[in-house]
Amino acid sequence: MGRPHIEFIAAQNLPWDHALPGLARSGVEVKVLSLDDGNGAASGILRYPAGFSMDGSHWLDATEEFLVLDGELELNSRSYGAHAYANLPPGYTRERMSSPRGATLLTFFDRAPGAGQGAPPQVDGIELVEYLDVVRMEWDSTGIDPGLAFMGIKRKTLRRDHTRDQRASFLIATAPHNHPKDWACPALTHPCVEECFMLAGDLTGPQGVLHTGCYFWRPPGIAHGPFGSRYGSLSLIRFVDGKHVNVWGDAALPYSYDVPHAPVLPPHLAAFGAEPYRGFLPW
Ligand SMILES: [Fe+2]
Repeated sequence: MGRPHIEFIAAQNLPWDHALPGLARSGVEVKVLSLDDGNGAASGILRYPAGFSMDGSHWLDATEEFLVLDGELELNSRSYGAHAYANLPPGYTRERMSSPRGATLLTFFDRAPGAGQGAPPQVDGIELVEYLDVVRMEWDSTGIDPGLAFMGIKRKTLRRDHTRDQRASFLIATAPHNHPKDWACPALTHPCVEECFMLAGDLTGPQGVLHTGCYFWRPPGIAHGPFGSRYGSLSLIRFVDGKHVNVWGDAALPYSYDVPHAPVLPPHLAAFGAEPYRGFLPW
């Protein structure tokens, strides 16, 4: 089935649901950003209420990847605060989860997050990232495509599978006042999904201006850009189901910061994304 092209939606305009199909975490609310109707893979914002507590050893059938947006989640013996990150493959055992003060987590499941039955499978050691304090990580800009040098990109690699299809997740920062040289640049295409959630700032492309809380899911093979930023941006970007390769178009396309709001949305999101979000909630 796969997920439809969503480019883009403001999380603030989406409703809180009381559950995510398959996920048994009592009291946790979710904003579904994208959902694969076939296998239940989902990206969303999970809100753990203050006082959340879940005792009892359990594991999931799915990989759970998350970045804490605010608050604090206790998982096993660790405390995950703002901008802590983890990637927990199937079979990873949760002895205890709690959130005394509440927490909001940007969360990705690679299939329906049902509770695993019986003995857990061996955890994939390549995929497992138990804990990163992303704020303390060093920025890196090695290997950035020279064609994107104008964006002043800095990166923190959250996960990267070098041995299989090179799936990867990054935190990406772009510089203020970045735009293509002479205000024109070709479009880009990737042979994999590109997924993005805006943590701060702005990113302007042909579909409009993405601010904090905006999200896109772009299937493989869709030409996109040019992009730039007036004030700079911080985003979490994932490359899913394939290797991230930049394939540049031939024709330079004109670029501007002043573009109308024109998102590409599937029918079920059209009403939520018709207007840009103009309030002050972060997500
Ligand atoms: Fe891209």
